[in-house]
Amino acid sequence: MSIIQEIRAKLDLVQYISQSGVPLRKAGRYFTACCPFHSEKTPSFVVFPDSQTWHCFGACSTGGDIFSYVQRRENVDFSEALRLLAQKAGVQLQTRTAEQQQRETHLNKLRSLLSEAARFYHQRLLNAPDAAEARAYVARRGLSEATLVQFQIGYAPSGWHSALDRLKQIGYSESELLEAGILTRHEESERLYDRFRDRLMIPICDESGQVIGFGARALKPEAQPKYLNSPQTPLFDKSAALFALHHARRSIRESETAVIVEGYMDAIQAHQHGFTNVVAQMGTALTQAQLKTLSRFARRLILALDADEAGARATLRGLETVRQVASVQRVFVDPSGALRESSRLNLEIQVVTPPNGKDPDDLIRENPQAWRDLIAQAQGVAEYVINAAAASLPANATLAEREQIARELLPLLLATENNLQQQANVQLLAYKLRLGSGKALLEWALQQQRAKRLDRPQPNGKPAQTQPPAAPAPATSLAHSEARQEYCLAALLQYPNLLADVQRVFRQLAAAEPSAQAELQPLCAADFARPDLRAIFEAFLRARAQYEEDWLNYLEAQLPVDLRPVLEQLLMAPLEAYEHRLRQMSEIDPRALSKDVATLREIAALNPDELRHRTALPHQALSLRLSRLRRECTELSYLMQEADEAQLQEHLQRNTVYLRAIRALMQAAHPTPDGQLL
Ligand code: UTP
Ligand code: MN
Repeated sequence: MSIIQEIRAKLDLVQYISQSGVPLRKAGRYFTACCPFHSEKTPSFVVFPDSQTWHCFGACSTGGDIFSYVQRRENVDFSEALRLLAQKAGVQLQTRTAEQQQRETHLNKLRSLLSEAARFYHQRLLNAPDAAEARAYVARRGLSEATLVQFQIGYAPSGWHSALDRLKQIGYSESELLEAGILTRHEESERLYDRFRDRLMIPICDESGQVIGFGARALKPEAQPKYLNSPQTPLFDKSAALFALHHARRSIRESETAVIVEGYMDAIQAHQHGFTNVVAQMGTALTQAQLKTLSRFARRLILALDADEAGARATLRGLETVRQVASVQRVFVDPSGALRESSRLNLEIQVVTPPNGKDPDDLIRENPQAWRDLIAQAQGVAEYVINAAAASLPANATLAEREQIARELLPLLLATENNLQQQANVQLLAYKLRLGSGKALLEWALQQQRAKRLDRPQPNGKPAQTQPPAAPAPATSLAHSEARQEYCLAALLQYPNLLADVQRVFRQLAAAEPSAQAELQPLCAADFARPDLRAIFEAFLRARAQYEEDWLNYLEAQLPVDLRPVLEQLLMAPLEAYEHRLRQMSEIDPRALSKDVATLREIAALNPDELRHRTALPHQALSLRLSRLRRECTELSYLMQEADEAQLQEHLQRNTVYLRAIRALMQAAHPTPDGQLL
C-alpha cells in the first residue's frame, strides 16, 4: 500500500495523461479531451485534478485513477502498471539503503570465501597424498569421477589450520572465516582452528549454485558426529536450504515433480544415476521455507521416507497436532514421520517408502529400476496415512479403538483433497479399519467439520470471540469507503460461494431497470476504488471463472508479488470487526435481504457465519456501487457547469441514467410493504 500511496503522491494524473499524448483542454475545474480509448468527435474524456481520477462519459463509460489509466493505455496488467509508474515516479519497488548495500558487499565477500574454501577442499581430494583414504572412501561408496567434480566434493586435511592458512593467505580475515563457519573457536584458549578436519567435504549450495555451507562426513566409523555441518551463518540456514537444488532445479521444473530424500549421499547417488529431480533436506524435518522454495518449481513432491516403524508411529502422533491447526489446506508427512500442514501451497504431496528399510542410496546403487518403479508408485499422502494407521492397529483392536483412529484421521482426510478424493479416502479408511460403509463415516465427519468451524480458534490461539473485536476507528469517509471495499473483498475471498449471491442481486436489479443496465451490471473491478483491491478482485473473478475449486492457488500464483501480503491480510481479516463498523455507517437496511436468506436457510444447512455474510455482503456490495455512482454524478455535475447546449443535453441524459440506477439500488435495499425484494 505505501508504494501505491507514494506513487500517487509523486505523480499528477493531468500531467501524466498530457505526457502520454492526450491533448487535454482545461475547462473550469477539470480537463477534457477526445477519449484515447475509443474514437469520437466530441470530447467525453474528462480528467479531474482534485480527485486525480479520469472518466470517459462516452462509449467507454468507465474511469478510474492513474493505475487504471496506465493499465488501459498501455494494455498491461496491474503489476506492470505498478512497475511503469514506480519507475516514472522514481520510487524503488524494493528500496535498498546504503546499509543494505554494505551488508550485501559483506555477504558477497563471505560467498567468495566459501567458493575458495570449496575449491581448496576439492583440489585436496583430487590430488593431495594425504587424501588417499578419502579417495578410497568415495570409490567404495560408488561415486564416479564426474560426480566428484559435479558436486565439487572435497577433503578437509587432518591438521588444525590447513584451511585457515590457505584462506588467510589469499586475503580473508580470521573473523570472516569464523563468520562463514570455516573456523571454530577453542573454548578455553580461544584460539581459532579449522572446524572441518579429516572429513569428506560436501558443499551445500543455494539455488543458483553458490556455496553457502558444507556437510562434512567422517571417514572413520567411530568419528562423531557422522556429519558435521556448517553452523548457522548469514548465508547458511539449514532449515531453509535444500541440498542439490541447483542441480535439480531444471529437471524439477520440467517434470513438475521434486523427489525429496533425507541425506546428502542419497541425493548424490540419485543424480549420478540420472534421477536429476532429487533434492535432500539434510536430516531435519521438511520446513515451510523449503516447501515454499520447491513450490516455485514443482507441483508435486514425492517424499522418500524412512521405512521404519517409528516413522509410522510419529505420523499418527502428529495427527493430533494437525487436528488443532485451524484451516489446514494441505497436509504432508515429513521424513521424520510427523504430519505438518502447508497451508495454501500449490503442491500435491506423495510418499514412497523404500523397501526393507533401505536408503535411497543403497537402493539406487543396487537396482536403479527398482527406484524408478518405487517413484512411479508413489502414494497420496492420505493413502499413506491410512495405511500406516491400519498397519499400526493390533489385530484384536476393539470397535471403539478403531473408531477412535477414524475420528483422528477424518478431519485430516477432509482437509487434504477434493470431494471425490475425500469420498475415496474415507471409503478406504472405513475398509481398512473394518468400519463398514464409508458413507456414514463421511457424513459424521462433515458434521464435525461444520461444528468445528464455529469455534475455530483465532490465529492467536484463543477461541473466536463472541463480541466483535474492535476495528480501528475510521477517521474519514475515505476510511469508511475503504473499510467497505475491504470487507466486500475479504468476505468474497473467505466465502467465495457468496459471489453468486452478490451477482444475482445485481442481475435482478438490471433486469428490473433495463434503462440503466450498464450501471447495474454485476459487481466489477471498477467498484473498488483502491487499486490494490481492484487488482485482487479482478484476479479473483478470473480465477473463479477458470479454476472453480482451485481458484485460490491460481489467484496467488497470478498476483504480483507486491499484492500477496494484501491478499494474505484479506484472507485472514476478522470479518466481524468490519461488519460491526459497517452496520453503523450503512445507508441500506440489512433486513432488506433477510427474506431471501430465510429461504436459503431452509435449503442448505449453512454455517451461521457464512449465512450472516450472505445477508451482509450483497448489501455492502450494493453500497459499493452506490458510492461509485454518486462519485460519477458529482463528476458529471462539474461538467455541466461548463457545458454547451448539446453537451448539456448529453450530460442530463447520463445523469438520468445514473439516478435511475441509484434509485434501483436504494429500492432494492428497502423492502416494499409486501416484503418483496424488488
Ligand atoms: P543419515 O544418518 O540417514 O545419513 O542422515 P546418510 O545420508 O544415510 O549418510 P551415509 O549414507 O551414512 O553417509 C541423513 C542426513 O541427516 C543429516 C545429514 O544431512 C544426512 O545426510 N545428518 C545425519 C547430520 O546432519 N548429522 C549427522 O550426524 C547425521
Ligand atoms: Mn545412507
